[in-house]
Amino acid sequence: MKIFLDTASLKEIREAAALGVIDGVTTNPTLLSKESGEPEEILVQICETVNGPISAEVVATDAEGMVREGRHWAGVHKNIVVKCPCTTEGLKATRTLSGQGIRINMTLVFSAPQALLAAKAGASFCSPFVGRLDDIATPGMDVVRDIVQIYRNYSFPCEVLAASLRHPMHVVEAAKAGAHIGTMPYAVFTSLVKHPLTDVGLKKFLEDWEKAKKEMGAKTAR
Ligand code: E4P
Repeated sequence: MKIFLDTASLKEIREAAALGVIDGVTTNPTLLSKESGEPEEILVQICETVNGPISAEVVATDAEGMVREGRHWAGVHKNIVVKCPCTTEGLKATRTLSGQGIRINMTLVFSAPQALLAAKAGASFCSPFVGRLDDIATPGMDVVRDIVQIYRNYSFPCEVLAASLRHPMHVVEAAKAGAHIGTMPYAVFTSLVKHPLTDVGLKKFLEDWEKAKKEMGAKTAR
């Protein structure tokens, strides 16, 4: 499964990218609004930090406006993927933009039928929001599983981008479900590497090593 960061923070993106395991970034208007600086400038810098798909979302709600914004975003950097919401207008815009070779990430997907339409409209990525479904007592991961199965059944070239992942188990479950990509906040990403037994094990290895070195030194001094 590819790992995307769900943030517009350049500090977080640079730190995570230094580990060499980040495949892309998703942003949305809320995430960009938290950063100081001009959104376009921030997106260009993100594209120059991570060489993979970087989602930039349209804010128009009519198809014509989405197409206009989408064309603009696609021209800003080759890595940019245009995020369109899963509405009737968003589907129209996706059909038009994908027909012009612009990659679309259909966002705000909460059901399998929405995902079927996203793929048929030519989206390259489909983003089911797992955490937000869980928030309303609907199992978000079931939707991911259904979408993966539907796309497999018909060999849709659209990648399932499990979004709104809130904790490491969401990441594990998304990978088990066969999602192509999981996008997650920086805090979730950093928690993936942590395990108390790794820390305890490393401490013990280093202590034993130091002890052995001291004993060796004592022997050669005799
Ligand atoms: C995905 O592209 C969205 O930006 C994101 O995953 C939404 O996550 P949230 O529900 O935690 O805001």
